[in-house]
Parts: sequence; structure tokens; C-alpha cells
Amino acid sequence: MAYDVVVIGSGPGGYVCAIKAAQLGLKTAVVEKRETYGGTCLNIGCIPSKALLHASEMLAEAQHSFDTLGVEVGTPKLNLKKMLAHKDATVASNVNGVAFLFKKNKIDAFRGTGKIVSAGKVSVTGEDGKVQEIEAKNIVIATGSDVAGIPGVKVDIDEKVIISSTGALSLEKVPGHLVVVGGGVIGLELGSVWARLGAKVTVVEYLDSILGGMDGEVSKQFQRMLAKQGLDFKLGAKVTAVAQAKKGATVTFEPVKGGAAETIEADAVLIATGRRPYTDALGLKEAGVDVDERGRVKTDAHLRTNVPGIYAIGDVVAGPMLAHKAEDEGVAVAETIAGQAGHVNYDVIPSVVYTSPEVASVGKTEEELKKAGVDYKVGKFPFTANGRARAMLHTDGLVKVLADKATDRVLGVHILGFGAGEMIHEATVLMEFGGSSEDLARTCHAHPTMSEAVKEAALATFFKPIHL
Ligand code: NAI
Repeated sequence: MAYDVVVIGSGPGGYVCAIKAAQLGLKTAVVEKRETYGGTCLNIGCIPSKALLHASEMLAEAQHSFDTLGVEVGTPKLNLKKMLAHKDATVASNVNGVAFLFKKNKIDAFRGTGKIVSAGKVSVTGEDGKVQEIEAKNIVIATGSDVAGIPGVKVDIDEKVIISSTGALSLEKVPGHLVVVGGGVIGLELGSVWARLGAKVTVVEYLDSILGGMDGEVSKQFQRMLAKQGLDFKLGAKVTAVAQAKKGATVTFEPVKGGAAETIEADAVLIATGRRPYTDALGLKEAGVDVDERGRVKTDAHLRTNVPGIYAIGDVVAGPMLAHKAEDEGVAVAETIAGQAGHVNYDVIPSVVYTSPEVASVGKTEEELKKAGVDYKVGKFPFTANGRARAMLHTDGLVKVLADKATDRVLGVHILGFGAGEMIHEATVLMEFGGSSEDLARTCHAHPTMSEAVKEAALATFFKPIHL
């Protein structure tokens, strides 16, 4: 019997695609080589990191805010073993949740490494080496991404001293000095976890700013906050070597603009210099599936590859490597296969950095608008002027709204502050509907909430804020 859809990979892209396909009445199977479902995100990415981020933030709150709030708990102490156990339990409940949903939706799961034999045929090689072939009217490649390493630098990641994001989720003790190579999302999220747990953290970043591509003003303010939390930054610094030492490791870097190299010692080094699309052993070449110069599977606007009946979604194709982008692509492909009009609006994909405070954005940055020659206006509102933020001691940060000068249509929203990752969605919905800053400003917001700062920033864009 042939399946209507066989999805290779069960990360957020793959498992959501499979569930949607099954919901639409398609006979669906998933191929997964990992022992549990959920891919990088659920097993060694988004979910476990959020458990550690939350737990370490609670420790920091207990250490730095409880006293002011009048809560006496003695000296808060870290129990790393317990914190890691909480992380593992969180992962277990999430991956089990996916297994439950597969059963509920009557999705067949094949354990093993999937390979495309040809259009219509997938082989699955189990751990015991046994190969099984399954017929598939449609194949969806959802194999995700893997750690890319440092371009041009040989690094031996042992996940103990020289670690990737995977090892950074399971260190058995807090390193004295953690050097983070790469000031992107992973470096800052996991670097800030270990900083809160007591490590001295140095971030070495090639660019002149952290979180390249983020709104410049927000990035600068954010960096100042992280520096206040104790993170040390070496910007405009290119890492040229990472080596194991007798004790720990060494990291060598040189100024991008030229100058003398510097070597620093570390107890642990986190390599966070990006991820690469993962298509190893997938048989793309044999099946005739085209990839681009960066190894990403080439797709058209409907996520179809050049081979009829083969689709690709998520980190393995172009676009931001974000779980929610993969999920939306999974839904779109399932709908397309079912004969519906699947679509992803790539202009309105929110992105969140889950640090403390969080940084969230949707749409264009000021730099992008300037570059595109768009005539825009800006409205800002700081959380220092928000009552709820004051009550919770979370006054760091701001909301920034960018709108078209002529039409008032909102083009970008950037939030730096506590709960930014939740607040961004009102801007996302507004932008999905092509809303204006006046629409946002005239929408009643509950008081007192942090979200009122979003309304005030919109007011500032459209006319004047009330509370400033
Ligand atoms: P990234 O691309 O965000 O950051 C890598 C950084 O390393 C860049 O700033 C780059 O300039 C720097 N770099 C590269 N080579 C270097 C060198 N030789 N010396 C110094 N710096 C160097 O990659 P990251 O943080 O590894 O994340 C990988 C992917 O995972 C990203 O696409 C990210 O969007 C995604 N992710 C998203 C999360 C979220 O949405 N909250 C959380 C974690 C990962």
C-alpha cells in the first residue's frame, strides 16, 4: 500500500506537516532516526533551552529582586542536578506528546534513517541495518539542520570542554570561564544561562554588533543590558583557532580590521557560529533533487523541489532557521498536497531571542527600511514609563514601531523587554492584516499590562504617547 505522504524527519516542520496531512484525510507516515520524536527543537534545542532559561532566570530573580519585593528566602542556591532533571522532564513530556499525537491521528512511524530512493519511494535503514522500502505518493523532506562549526577553522567538539548547543544543555558543573564563539541567538541564550548560574562569560563575535540583522538601536541597548549582567563582549573579532588545553581550552581570535591575535583560556568553549542544512545520506543526488550553493534544498513558492512529488520544508530550505517557520511550511505543504491553497507569509514571521529580557521582532528593521529607501516614521515607548513593568521590577527595554510615513501601515515592530516574546504577537496579527499604527493605537489594551507599551509606541508613531 502506498502512503499519500511520507515525511522524513519529525521536528516541528515534519511532525506538524504529518499531523496536518492526517487531519486532511491523507494516509501519512513519518520516518525518524532519533529515538524520540520532535527533532532538534524538542530534544536538544528550543524546549530544553527554555527550561534552563526559565530556571536560571528564577534563580537570578531570587538573588537580585526578591529582597526589594520583600520576599525573604535566605540565600538562593543552585542545585544544577535538579535543574537539569527539570529540563529532561520537560523534554520527555514534549516528545511523548508528539508520540501521542501521531497515534491519535493514525500516523505510522518508521524508526531509522530515511533515504529517497526515487520519487515515490523511501527506504528506511534501521539501527540493526535492516532496510525497509515504503511507497509514497508524496515525500516531504524535513531533515532540519546540524551544527555548522566555525567556517575555515577545524574544531573538535567533544561536548564536554568544546561544546555545541547540545553540550551546553547538559554541563555537569558550572564552568569558571565560558567562552562563547558567536554572538548570535544560541550564543546569547545559552551564554546568559551559564552566566546566571555563575560562569564568567566572554562572547567573541565577528561582527561589530551582537545578533546581526537585528534593529541596530535595539541591539545596542540589549548589549548594554547583557554587559550589566556580566557578559563580556569581544566584537569585530574573528576566531581563528579553538584548541583543547591541559586544563580546558584556548580560543584565539584576531581583530577583523587587522591587528595582533589574542588567545584566551577557557574552562569550556561554546561553538555557536550557525547551523547547516542537514541532508546527509538522504540520497538527494541519486534522486535528482537540486540543492543550492549552501546545501539547502531548492524549492519553489509552494515548497516543491524540482522533482515532482518531493517537497522540502524547514531548516533544510532557504529562510530563517526557526521552528515556527518550519511548522507553517509543514501546514502549507500538507494543504497543497491535499489540493488546498497552502501559503506562508514570509514577511510576517516573528523572531524571539529568549534571553532576559527577551528581544522580539517582526517585519523590517530601521536599517532595512533605510536601505530600501522607504519613507517611514518611528514611535517608541520605554518600559520605565509602564506601571505594570514598575510593579514587577521589569522596567528595562522599549517598544519600537516602524510605519510607512504615507499610509501609516506598520512595517516592523521591535520589543526589548520582559515578556517581549508574548507581546510581539499582537503586532504580528496586526501586520498579517495589513494594519496601521493608528489601528494598534486605537485598540483598547487592558490596564495594567506590559502590552500597553505596544499601544503607546503605536500612539507615538501615529500621534503622541499619553504616558510620556
Ligand atoms: P547565528 O547565525 O544566529 O549566529 C552565529 C554568529 O557567529 C554570527 O553572529 C556570526 O557573525 C558569528 N561568527 C561566525 N564565524 C565566526 C568567527 N570565526 N568568529 C567569531 N564569530 C563568528 O547562529 P546560531 O546562534 O548558532 O544559531 C543557529 C540558528 O539557530 C540560527 O539560524 C537561529 O535563528 C536558530 N536559533 C533560533 C533560536 C530562537 O529563535 N530563539 C534559538 C536558537 C537557535
